[in-house]
Amino acid sequence: MPVISVVSLKGGVGKTSVTLGLAGAATARGLASLVIDLDPQGNATSILRAHPSKTSVANVLEHPTRAEIEAALTPCDWEIGPGEVDVLASHPSVIRFDSWTQPGAVFKPKLAKALQQLEGYDLVLIDCPPSLGALTREALAASDFALIVTTPSYFATKGVEKAVAEVEEIRKSVNPGLKLAGIVVNRVRSVAEEHQYRVDELGTIYGKAAILKPFMPERIAVTQAEGFGTPVYGVKTPGGREVAGIFDRYLSTLLRK
Ligand SMILES: Nc1ncnc2c1ncn2[C@@H]1O[C@H](COP(=O)(O)OP(=O)(O)OP(=O)(O)O)[C@@H](O)[C@H]1O
Ligand SMILES: [Mg+2]
Repeated sequence: MPVISVVSLKGGVGKTSVTLGLAGAATARGLASLVIDLDPQGNATSILRAHPSKTSVANVLEHPTRAEIEAALTPCDWEIGPGEVDVLASHPSVIRFDSWTQPGAVFKPKLAKALQQLEGYDLVLIDCPPSLGALTREALAASDFALIVTTPSYFATKGVEKAVAEVEEIRKSVNPGLKLAGIVVNRVRSVAEEHQYRVDELGTIYGKAAILKPFMPERIAVTQAEGFGTPVYGVKTPGGREVAGIFDRYLSTLLRK
């Protein structure tokens, strides 16, 4: 059951779109996936139209037991087959777990503990908030892989450096099994020189192999899928098919790791 955290320091680069794109690709293949929405904004929870549940990921962080995680799991409107998507929904109150820990306090991962007691999914995807705070640490501590998302812009690519350092820090401290799955460069416009420059720069710093291919282009289908609350493969336009095909390739790459 590979667990993949989708992270970035910068907001709005496409973490949720990538998480849901991969969940959509998995369900199209008939796989059973679990999406954990660790972002207090709850965007993944609403786009998936997770069915109301009495508890959320906040309860699991409070009491990381098997009973608590099983009680919080809920199906969603993406149960359109052939695969299945369950959700560990977010809740605004999850923000209280993003507070800075006291200096000297020992970090005891909670989500990792709860996930160790769960089975039955082919893939677990964790959508992280736009920060490298305590919630993202929880996600990384619970993951086999970190997938970093960036746009080809100056500040976003600077954020990649910090995210890579955070992955390294968690690997050294609490989760020796954590690996960097790669960097998704999202919203690329092939005609923009600045984009090409930033893509080349990332390749030079992290190695060409670290960048997932092909780059994810800027396509209106991504926003349309979000608005309709459907997987992007449900958007029957050339752009929808292109983006869905790229997510399918990303999924193959990740499942081979
Ligand atoms: N490849 C793309 N082409 C066009 N629009 C995109 C693409 N990827 C993401 N978007 C749009 O950009 C916006 C931000 O994307 P998204 O919510 O996935 O980012 P995020 O990193 O999860 O944001 P946050 O940091 O707030 O959680 C959304 O409206 C989404 O539809
Ligand atoms: Mg998001």
